[in-house]
Amino acid sequence: MNEPPPVVVLVSGQGTNLQAIIDAIQAGKLRAQIALVVSNRPEAYALQRATQAKIPTLCLPRSEYPTREAFEDRLLHDLAATKPAAIVLAGFDRLISSRFVSTYKNRILNIHPALLPSFPGLHAAKQALDYGVKVTGVTIHIVDEGMDTGPIILQEAVPIYDDDTEETLLERIHALEHRLYPEAIGLLVDKRLEIDGRVVRRL
Ligand code: GRF
Repeated sequence: MNEPPPVVVLVSGQGTNLQAIIDAIQAGKLRAQIALVVSNRPEAYALQRATQAKIPTLCLPRSEYPTREAFEDRLLHDLAATKPAAIVLAGFDRLISSRFVSTYKNRILNIHPALLPSFPGLHAAKQALDYGVKVTGVTIHIVDEGMDTGPIILQEAVPIYDDDTEETLLERIHALEHRLYPEAIGLLVDKRLEIDGRVVRRL
């Protein structure tokens, strides 16, 4: 049988989504291999999760790569060697350039803790709570040139209860993220998605 398709995961923080992807692969629920985990923060706990799972890591700290161009020159160079079928942004906190997006067109995924196009950007769960919506959720989308604007692959709702805090709401959102992200990655690497402008259909 062919080798599982290589994916690269970009992280900056805790890496619970990275862990969910690692676990899905190990459980045989996602046919892929993580070729590389890249962090822009040396302290990201996600790096430890990768090392624990014997996945190669690359850390490109902002202090050494102060401009986005320098950062991406190095990143694109290292990514080319892995020939990724998907580049998975999992809590990665740096915006990527249109050069990066066009190099890996329709192969970069992001996960956002709200029902886009509502509450894009930072602190989406708090934005939803402060606005007073009764339903929020999780969106997984293809990354385009904008911020949280690309074509949507999967989206599912999470209820907001009167006694929710940001913490309790995020707990519910994370549980859903950990189920949806491996599923979306599988759809992409298995080529079971048709991307027609903004609209993504499952094949
Ligand atoms: C997730 O909530 C994701 O939606 C957002 O960043 C968070 C990353 O969490 N983009 P983790 O590092 O995977 O635990």
